[in-house]
Amino acid sequence: MPSECPGQTVPAPRGHDTAEAVDGFGSFGGLVVDDFGQRVGLALEMRARRLMARLRRHHPESALHSARVAAIVMGMWRKAPALMGDAETALLGSLLHDVGKLFVPRDLLMSQALLTPEQRAVVCAHSALGAKLLLRLGFPEAIAAVARGHHERWSGGGYPTGLPAQDQPWVVRAVAVADAFDAMTDPGRAYRAPLGGDEALREVEACAGTHFEPMAASLLADSLARPAADWSWQEPARSDMAVFALH
Ligand SMILES: [Fe+2]
Ligand SMILES: [Fe+2]
Repeated sequence: MPSECPGQTVPAPRGHDTAEAVDGFGSFGGLVVDDFGQRVGLALEMRARRLMARLRRHHPESALHSARVAAIVMGMWRKAPALMGDAETALLGSLLHDVGKLFVPRDLLMSQALLTPEQRAVVCAHSALGAKLLLRLGFPEAIAAVARGHHERWSGGGYPTGLPAQDQPWVVRAVAVADAFDAMTDPGRAYRAPLGGDEALREVEACAGTHFEPMAASLLADSLARPAADWSWQEPARSDMAVFALH
């Protein structure tokens, strides 16, 4: 996997409004998340819902990808909660990891053509922009760090910094591997044919120690809800979609 995005400067994001409270946040990876607003605060829950709804309107594939990544990450959390840290950060971080794609023009996200270096730089800005947006909206740094760092690589060469990911929080390393696994199995990506679950897992394992934290790669394999050979890309579970609901 070659590095796609060198370091670049990015513009400051615009602000977003908050939305009204709603009941139920869904369940991810079999983990029922019901009293979420009480645990993270209603304001953050509302902002997360609003952001996910906006992302779904802007680029539905990114929103559905985010819900699938959250389900995978929470499956990993269930296997190793002490390693992954608090569930709220894991859930909000994984759900919002690609929120910076709100700043990437939709036609660029939908492009079937090979991107120019300039276009790639715009797409790759999503990680840094997402982190800035989340901090501006009052999300904790631990959640912004997931957006910022999910394309960094274990041995360096990712983006935005290109630095080795050893200093990244564990949950960021977990989201990085779950994000890549979902991207590899997603049939909606223009730039590559989808891999089966077993193929994708083999690629993750081949890249453990270079692209991915080796323990995170192992945890992904351990936590998939079924044998990887049976894994096929699917729509997020209905129970995972409650996060998009704004009543
Ligand atoms: Fe991303
Ligand atoms: Fe992603």
